[in-house]
Amino acid sequence: MKKAIFVSLLLIAVIAAGTVYAEYGDIVLGRKMESMEKAGVKPVLFPHWFHRIRFKCKVCHEDIFIMQRGANDINMNAIMNGEFCGKCHNGQIAWEPLYCDRCHSWTGPVPPYAKPAAK
Ligand code: HEC
Ligand code: HEC
Ligand code: HEC
Repeated sequence: MKKAIFVSLLLIAVIAAGTVYAEYGDIVLGRKMESMEKAGVKPVLFPHWFHRIRFKCKVCHEDIFIMQRGANDINMNAIMNGEFCGKCHNGQIAWEPLYCDRCHSWTGPVPPYAKPAAK
């Protein structure tokens, strides 16, 4: 009996975690859903943890990225020109932004990001 309760609790925990993020600390970037769909690429899964253990926070925050989910207006031209992810994914610090599917790899639901406040 105890075991059955434990197993079902475990299942609930796994399901609850799974519906939000693939892994703790990953961030889905999906502000540009419309253009990504047109280009036939999936939304972006940014492995925050993977990067956090390799770089100090201040490498990225806030010189490259505002420290708030959905707050950064990122596009591919900027990345190709060495901004945002392209600061490192430039073939020197990390691989070039030519391998679309390495970043555009998210298949789950995309969170509804609030529109940035009008300036
Ligand atoms: C390689 C770059 C990089 C590094 C290093 C990094 N972050 Fe981030 N961080 C990001 C990106 C990209 C986002 C997502 C921004 C977005 O959604 O527009 C983010 C988002 C965040 C958020 C917002 C999460 C939310 O749910 O709103 C927090 C808080 C944060 N980072 C804290 C940290 C801390 C603390 C460290 C150091 C331990 C760190 N970051 C290191 C790139 C980085
Ligand atoms: C401060 C430098 C830096 C920035 C900024 C950065 N990355 Fe990375 N990223 C790296 C390095 C270094 C690696 C490891 C490369 C390797 O293993 O050859 C990496 C690896 C990755 C990987 C592969 C992870 C794995 O499990 O192998 C993904 C996906 C990724 N980055 C996505 C992004 C995205 C999306 C952004 C922008 C939102 C971004 N990165 C911004 C440095 C950076
Ligand atoms: C290093 C990670 C990375 C790689 C590699 C990458 N992208 Fe992106 N891409 C992003 C991020 C981050 C965004 C912003 C997503 C958002 O905020 O919705 C983005 C946005 C986009 C968009 C929508 C915005 C715009 O510029 O129109 C398109 C289309 C796109 N990428 C296509 C591609 C294609 C095609 C490739 C391969 C040639 C590619 N991407 C490779 C990280 C990457």
